[in-house]
Amino acid sequence: MYDNNPTLENIAKTVDPNKQGSVLETYSNDDSNKKFYIESYGCAMNFSDSEIVASILAQEGYGSTSQLEEADLILVNTCSIREKAEDTVRKRLSVFNKVKEEKPGTLVGVLGCMAERLKKKLLDQEKLVDIVVGPDAYRDLPKLIHGAEDGERGVNVLLSREETYADISPLRLDTNGICGFISIMRGCDNMCSFCVVPFTRGRERSRDAFSIVAEAQDLYDQGYRDVTLLGQNVDSYKWENPDTGKTVSFADLLVMVAGVHPDLRIRFSTSHPKDITDEVLYAIRDYENICKYIHLPVQSGNSRILELMNRTYDREWYDAKVKRIYEIVPDCTISSDIICGFCSETEEEHQDTLDVIRKSKYSLSYMFYYSERPGTMAARKYEDDVPLEVKKRRLNEVIALQMQVAHDHNKADIGKTFKVLIEGDSKRSDKDFKGRTSQFKVVVFPKTENLKKGDYVDVKIKEVTSSTLIGEIVKAG
Ligand code: 5AD
Ligand code: SF4
Repeated sequence: MYDNNPTLENIAKTVDPNKQGSVLETYSNDDSNKKFYIESYGCAMNFSDSEIVASILAQEGYGSTSQLEEADLILVNTCSIREKAEDTVRKRLSVFNKVKEEKPGTLVGVLGCMAERLKKKLLDQEKLVDIVVGPDAYRDLPKLIHGAEDGERGVNVLLSREETYADISPLRLDTNGICGFISIMRGCDNMCSFCVVPFTRGRERSRDAFSIVAEAQDLYDQGYRDVTLLGQNVDSYKWENPDTGKTVSFADLLVMVAGVHPDLRIRFSTSHPKDITDEVLYAIRDYENICKYIHLPVQSGNSRILELMNRTYDREWYDAKVKRIYEIVPDCTISSDIICGFCSETEEEHQDTLDVIRKSKYSLSYMFYYSERPGTMAARKYEDDVPLEVKKRRLNEVIALQMQVAHDHNKADIGKTFKVLIEGDSKRSDKDFKGRTSQFKVVVFPKTENLKKGDYVDVKIKEVTSSTLIGEIVKAG
């Protein structure tokens, strides 16, 4: 999980957010004549958006396929967060174009964050794609596809202040049937100086709280037991009920979703340290099924760099937040995102980042070296002056320390018993199950009769690595 590959809001998730790309397929509509193939890159939000796109396409009679060659429509849901993410997508586009040469009439479409950024280039100069659709324009896909079938190049990258796709029931893709994602808001109003997201995904808007609860209920009814509420900055979720005029805060929403069923675990991501409130912490403490896990990206451990990053908190504020979390929810784990080698970062400032990892005791971090993104405040105002070798060396130091901190964190779990939700077979052996604790730690343990994925078991931890707890069932159900 430690890499600098395409990923955006790296929520810790069951679909590995850091993997290079994922082909999504869950259903196959054999009656349909047309088939689409979709690959998703980047954050959980993108994966979740692909499920909305799949739903829109299904209504148009499209079935999905995981075979490129079979597809009439090839879509790639893209990420712009780092240069490398964009490079990967470009490589994939040239592969798709080869497929197209073999099978004329196949349409290639670019969705997501790169669409907004590179529409002109992709359509006109490079002629790589037929359709370009930004994150707020997926409802327009059918129209654009019809146009493209008639030889028109279809583009819609308009960003919206209202679109939340609240009424679209996502078609679950690439799923284990236990863990699902619910998008609760879109866009971001924070202007972190390094980040391209506010430009590619537009202004922040929150989705109707009742439609979120209904989606959680639907997932529960389908057998899901773990839902993650997704947003670039979930703590600023705010929705006004038009009937009562009352505002639903994120803490209120958590409690509403937790009420769906005590067996449905609720997670959320991402929290901005400046916005997470005590009310949210109390909700986590008071509801057993709201998971004891917070993704609280620090980005840097140094106050000067945090100011340049426009994170709007300093190191002291961050430390105090972490302290507050452990005070109110002592068994909570915290994870983070870290950027190494931001503009003008000195060795001493880098040491502060190592220090914040130690002090915060992260169970997990997603770590990157800084990649300048055109159009961002940092690209306009600051020089990207830390040499690549230095960025990489600092990143390696951060990764090594995080692994050690995670290992120590896991060692402290030896001898403890955790309630684990079974997610399926372990990767290494079908004699073992893999599951997760409320704290989002992966647990592997020998299977016993009569247990299946979706069940809860109590597992006592015997051994650990830096990424996994290994244990034995002490009580089923
Ligand atoms: N360079 C490197 N990492 C970045 N991130 C966002 N923008 C950049 C960038 N320009 C990281 C941040 C963010 C995570 C999703 O990606 O750590 O929290
Ligand atoms: Fe980017 Fe900052 Fe918004 Fe996260 S909070 S999406 S890092 S601008």
